[in-house]
Amino acid sequence: MTSTGWSGAACLRCTWALKQLVVFLTFANVDKPVLEAKPLSNQPMQKSVYVFGHSENELQRLIEQSRFFGGLTEQVFLGAGLASGMRVLDVGCGAGDVSFLAAKHVGASGRVLGMDKSSASVAVARERAEAAKLQNVTFIEGDVTDLSLEHSFDAVVGRLVLMYLPDPVAALRQIATHVRTDGLIVFHEMDATGFRSLPYSPLFEKCAGWINETCRRGGIETQMGLKLHQAFVSAGLPAPQMILGARIEGGPNSPAYEYVVQTVRSLLPMMEQLGVAKVEEVQIETLAQRMRDEVTSGGGVIVIPPLVGAWARKPL
Ligand SMILES: C[S@@+](CC[C@H](N)C(=O)[O-])C[C@H]1O[C@@H](n2cnc3c(N)ncnc32)[C@H](O)[C@@H]1O
Repeated sequence: MTSTGWSGAACLRCTWALKQLVVFLTFANVDKPVLEAKPLSNQPMQKSVYVFGHSENELQRLIEQSRFFGGLTEQVFLGAGLASGMRVLDVGCGAGDVSFLAAKHVGASGRVLGMDKSSASVAVARERAEAAKLQNVTFIEGDVTDLSLEHSFDAVVGRLVLMYLPDPVAALRQIATHVRTDGLIVFHEMDATGFRSLPYSPLFEKCAGWINETCRRGGIETQMGLKLHQAFVSAGLPAPQMILGARIEGGPNSPAYEYVVQTVRSLLPMMEQLGVAKVEEVQIETLAQRMRDEVTSGGGVIVIPPLVGAWARKPL
């Protein structure tokens, strides 16, 4: 199985991404972001492109992102009923944080299998599991759009993965075949349009605009969280139970500024390539400090985009 390493050129070579771009450039005014994303279609399954790539910087970003979102994902797991002894599959596991969280919930009598199409991510996840001496988690390389596993699971979970797939409905349908009857299907996805600041922080909002516009032009479903209901139902699953949670940050010591800047840093080559922002304009090295100064001088808060948790049980 091959992995998709970071390369903007490689990304643009991908037919699907190119098609998204051509459609965008043909029909959209590039200065005016259109918040309506692509429909959750039932197209034949296509391969996904992970526009953030799998550089060391990106894997570090995923680990830091997990510190941020871990508590929110934990609430989703508790609500969904992830419990001791379960066998869990974590699709699009990245550096392994969601698998580690699931492993804590299922305990020593349970098992977690983390799966990602990136060999670099799987290698890092394995190293971290070994360092933490976790006995109940293993990792494999694989593509969620092409899943073929021998065992069925009590639960399949995934965080921030359906938003990157060209056809999340088809993926969900296929994922569900690996869950036992009455087993759980649990996803935690972003509503990336939910960045907010009060009082209005121009620099933070500018970063939010860069991130969202790059994702949208790169073919990412920035509102996947809110589309989970439609996706589950279209995939033949019951309407999911859904909750929404967000981190609201402020003050000089918040790690949020670095988190936002890490996201910008990972996307920067893509931003340039898609004409969203120029390196000179972004000034990445001073961006976090400038944002911190702007937000704290106004005594304000920033809202990191909310994550939507959705879960349902597989019907008979
Ligand atoms: C934003 S990261 C999230 C990682 C992890 N779930 C977390 O929350 O920390 C998305 C991950 O999905 C993986 N991914 C994207 N498309 C995939 C596919 N078709 N099959 C398997 N993994 C995929 C990427 O390689 C990346 O590691």
